[in-house]
Amino acid sequence: MEKDIKILAIESSCDETAAAVVVNGRDVLSNIIASQIDIHEKFGGVVPEVASRKHIEAISAVVQEALDEANVTLDDIDAIGVTYGPGLVGALLVGVQYAKGLAYATHKPLIGVNHIEGHISANFIQYKELEPPFMCLVVSGGHTFIVYMKDHGEFEVMAETRDDAAGEAFDKVARAIGLGYPGGPKIDKISKEGNADAIKFPKAKFHDVTLDFSFSGVKSSVLNYLNKMNMKNETINIPDVAASFQKAVVNVLVENAFEACKIKGVDKITIAGGVASNSCLRETMIKEGQKKNIKVMFPEMILCTDNAAMIGSAAYFELIKGRVSPLTLNAIPNLKLGER
Ligand code: KG4
Ligand code: ZN
Repeated sequence: MEKDIKILAIESSCDETAAAVVVNGRDVLSNIIASQIDIHEKFGGVVPEVASRKHIEAISAVVQEALDEANVTLDDIDAIGVTYGPGLVGALLVGVQYAKGLAYATHKPLIGVNHIEGHISANFIQYKELEPPFMCLVVSGGHTFIVYMKDHGEFEVMAETRDDAAGEAFDKVARAIGLGYPGGPKIDKISKEGNADAIKFPKAKFHDVTLDFSFSGVKSSVLNYLNKMNMKNETINIPDVAASFQKAVVNVLVENAFEACKIKGVDKITIAGGVASNSCLRETMIKEGQKKNIKVMFPEMILCTDNAAMIGSAAYFELIKGRVSPLTLNAIPNLKLGER
């Protein structure tokens, strides 16, 4: 039997400082997340400068906790994985520099990981037998893609957003209806009390052949609706607005994701990223998947939003393909999927 490979992974691309120990890319020994949400909540969104400072304060303790909880020491670790993009440059640099320091001091290989590839890889933790090829709908605060994963580390982007990311639209609409940050989970919750057919918001879709998304239109139509109602002094039903907006976003995500499966002739689709924890998206995907005979998969909630276990999984698949990074690794804020 081959020796297990244990990876210590670090993630600091946005507002969570996270570290994890993952075995063979599939089994999580620890997954520690220090969230900065309560700090950024006061500002209504992530303040990059504040995020970097908070990462610096938290990172040593978070890494130590990940080792302790996994019941290992640095000696037991085979490689260090770290997110080096995309994300906020100052935030990424904290994780990258810390990982480089550890790799240098311990003489272990360093593996730079693309954050989006990490989100997709969360599915390998959830589904122990899952192997590419499959389609993946990546929906996070900063990104919206439909990606065809041909093999580990090989991607074809089938669609992307031309303006706001899906999570960003959730956050902006939540702010406009007074729900606060982060908006996605709050819209998800309050929508359960609303009528999703109460207000017709336009589909976030282009009328040409592309599967690309546009979410700024649906966001603007929510803002226009709120303005009109305010001008007429009419009462706004917040749960109805939230549910109707959510339905408009979810419908187009689901429609285009299954269209991409049809184009490539694949029968499995995964969902990844923070918005993958949206209950309406999950339910609609499952329902549609059953109709179309396509298997729908998604990670448990804690693996959907930012975490380091997903980075440990992606790092493992990079490592076994022989891809390691030099100690000159730098943060790349706009790193593209599949780019090295
Ligand atoms: O993947 P993630 O943790 O960070 C990025 O890489 O961007 O995603 C965060 C995004 C936020 O926009 C948040 O509002 C959204 O995911 N989100 C949700 C839900 N939970 C988190 N959106 C809709 N419904 C949810 N339940
Ligand atoms: Zn993310």
